This record gives sequence, structure tokens and C-alpha cells, in this order.
Amino acid sequence: MTDLIKTGQKHVASGCGRIKDHMIEKGEGSWLHTNETKYLDFTCGIGVTNLGHCHPRVTKAAQEQVATLVHGQCSIGFHRPYVQLIEKLLPVMPHPSLDSFFFLNSGSEAVENAVKIARKSSGKTHGNIICMQGSYHGRTYGASALTKSKTIYAEQVGHGMPGIFATPFPYAHQMGLPQSTPEDELVKQCLFQLEMLLAQQSAPADTAAIILEPVIGEGGYVPAPSSYLHGLRQICDDNNIMLIIDEVQSGFGRTGKYFASEYSGVRPDILVIAKGIANGFPLSGVVTRKELTDKMPKGSLGGTYSGNAISCAAGVECANIMREEKILDNVKARSAELLAALKELQTDSETKHLFADVRGLGLMIGVEFVSSSKHPIPNASISNATPNNVGGRVQKRCLEKGLMLLTTSAFDVIRFIPPLTITKDEMELGCKIFKESVREVAKEK
Ligand SMILES: Cc1ncc(COP(=O)(O)O)c(C=O)c1O
Repeated sequence: MTDLIKTGQKHVASGCGRIKDHMIEKGEGSWLHTNETKYLDFTCGIGVTNLGHCHPRVTKAAQEQVATLVHGQCSIGFHRPYVQLIEKLLPVMPHPSLDSFFFLNSGSEAVENAVKIARKSSGKTHGNIICMQGSYHGRTYGASALTKSKTIYAEQVGHGMPGIFATPFPYAHQMGLPQSTPEDELVKQCLFQLEMLLAQQSAPADTAAIILEPVIGEGGYVPAPSSYLHGLRQICDDNNIMLIIDEVQSGFGRTGKYFASEYSGVRPDILVIAKGIANGFPLSGVVTRKELTDKMPKGSLGGTYSGNAISCAAGVECANIMREEKILDNVKARSAELLAALKELQTDSETKHLFADVRGLGLMIGVEFVSSSKHPIPNASISNATPNNVGGRVQKRCLEKGLMLLTTSAFDVIRFIPPLTITKDEMELGCKIFKESVREVAKEK
């Protein structure tokens, strides 16, 4: 073990968990090189390096920007990459009404700014915010108050932002229902519960916004049914409530469309973006209608590093690459291959007993396992309750064979977030390692 790793173990705050105590030395395309070996990276640094590690064109754009302007503070003036990035993003917004941008650094920061804009522009200054059970919106106090995927993000640290209510999301296991429950039924139940929440707990006049991820991310990679999103839009329209769609993880091609909201066509009042926007350079954004941001007093939006020039220059090049390298076509082709491999395991007589569900869109795919949980819901498995969970064991075996994967959610889920640029051969290798690992775990006692 190198001295630096020892320093890390001793001095990096232990509240930050790690897959392994190794040194990440270099990232190149779909590969992550450590001090010990190299891994096929199906984590993308939690859905960030969508165009592969250190994409040469993004690197070049950032290098040129470093030598031109590093910090063009947003309260001092415009800078070129900031405005150029807006020009690149305007045509790919999931709805043409989204024409007013503000860039920040992290997803959490953008989520909190979205809440500010929703409250201020709706006139419901102290308005409540409704989020989804199973949601993840970040770790800062405000964002973690909106996070309901696991208790760990806000456990024993006091109350976060007040005025937050959670409503059920159409995810059968989380609702205590069997996997076979028809989607229509889940949607009906969830919309009913939301109507009840507005009737019993948070009056529409006191509710500023509903926030959700179009594909629940950290909560288990569960896409929101289109009919649910349409139902939410209707409830928002009927009650003068803002709909905030958080595409921090699902955006920038991850699901096979530029934004996952395009699948339903539902218009967000406010869109939150980050992660894939700049392929690893810290950048996030909140996008809404100009008529809404015009209600924000001058100086009410800001931040020292908001919309950093290098990050924005990287973002501009990412948008060029997305179009010129036909990234969405690759997502669709590789997604079909990944899903076929997972379905094979799901139906194989030797492994099918491990599988509760395979789901997702594009290259945002979740596999939920059946653990040895005593949980009474058919096929459901709460990983917190099962230290010997299947996902963790599969993840460990994959790592030993050179494939890096992440688990997620309160359930026993492995998530696949490979680079959107992954080649056919790399996908084949990843699937081979995953299949071998699942088969080995299936044979364990
Ligand atoms: C949907 C979603 N929203 C918000 C966040 C928070 O982003 P950040 O970690 O950059 O604060 C994340 C992070 O994973 C996310 O997945």
C-alpha cells in the first residue's frame, strides 16, 4: 500500500464511503486506472463522465479556456463560454418555454435555487415543497430535506429545510405491492395519495412546488410512468403549483434522449441539470421561463464560483460532441445489448431466482435482486435489512474481475451507468463479467 493511501485512510474524513481504498490514477474513455489495476468503469463517477473519462475534445476545450479566463465571476459580467453554453442548450431543452438559465456548481445547489425560484416567483414565499418517496436531490441541508431514498443522508444531523412533504412514487416494492401490480394501478394510487396530501396536509395555496426525478436515481433507477408525469402536470396546473423536474442524473443523453422528460413530453416549470453537462467539470444549472426569473430581484441569484468558465467551456464542447458523435444512437444500441444480457440472466433457470426486476431507460438501468430478506413483500428485498445482500456480493465479484459497478437505494439494487460512448466490445466484456459474477453468486449458499 502506498504512503498516500495510508494518508488518505488516516486523514480523509471517514464519513465518505468508498468502494475500495485504492488510488484512482487516470481515467481514459471507459476505463479507470488505479495503483493496482484497471477497471471497466460502469459508474462514470456516479453518472458524470458520460462521454468517457478525459474525452480529448473536452480536455482540449478546457485547456484552452484555462489559458484564457478561469474565473469570470457572474456578478461582474457575462463570460463567453457561459453564454455560448446557453446557445448550445436552448435547442435541446425538453420544452421551448425553458429559456432562462442560471449556472451553479453542484446538483444540490441547483436544486435549492430551483426551490427559491419556485417560492419567490409563485408568490408562495413560504410555500411547501412536495417530493417523492425514494427521491434523491442532494446532500446540503435544503436538498437533503428533499431526499427520501435513505435515511443516512440526514440522519442525526438535525432538521433540514422546513415545509417538505413526501408523496408515494409509483414503484411497486416501495408501495408494499407485488412486482406484478399493473402500472395503471400504481399511478392511480400515487395520484390519489397526492390529492389526499393536498387535501389533508399541505393546502394548494401553501404548496409552491412538486419536485421529482423523471427516473428515480439513487432510489433504485425506477422510471416514472408517463401517465404519472401527466397526472402531476395536471395537478400542478389545477392548483397553481410549480413542477420542478430534476434531471441531474437522467439528463444529457443518459436515458437515450437528451432529457428523460422527452419520453412523456411533460413540461417542467423548472428544470435542474448537472453531472453530464460538463463531463466531470463541476457545473450545474437551473432552467426556467424568463417570466419567472424576471421576478427574482437583482442580486438574489449568485455564487462565487457559479458558472465557472472552464466548466462552461467543457460544457460547450460536450454539447458539440453529443451532436457530432451521434451519442444518442450509441446509447440506444448499447442499451439494447445490456438489457438483452440482463434479461438472459433474469430468465435463466440457474439465476432467475435472484432477480426481482430489471428496469430503466437507455444506459440508466437498474437490477433489483431478491435477497434473503424476511421482508413480507413478494420479491422485495430491503438491503439495509440484509447485510448479505445479493447486489453487494455481485458488485464485489465484478470488481475482482475488473468491472466497477455501484449499488443503490434502500432495496437490493445494482445500477448500470456506463459511459454513453462505450463501445460494443466494452459492453460485451462488461456483460460477460456481470453474468459470470451473478452465476457464481447463484451457486453460493
Ligand atoms: C437526481 C439528483 N439530483 C441532485 C443530485 C445532487 O447533486 P450533487 O451531488 O452534485 O450535489 C444528484 C446526485 O447524485 C442526483 O442524482
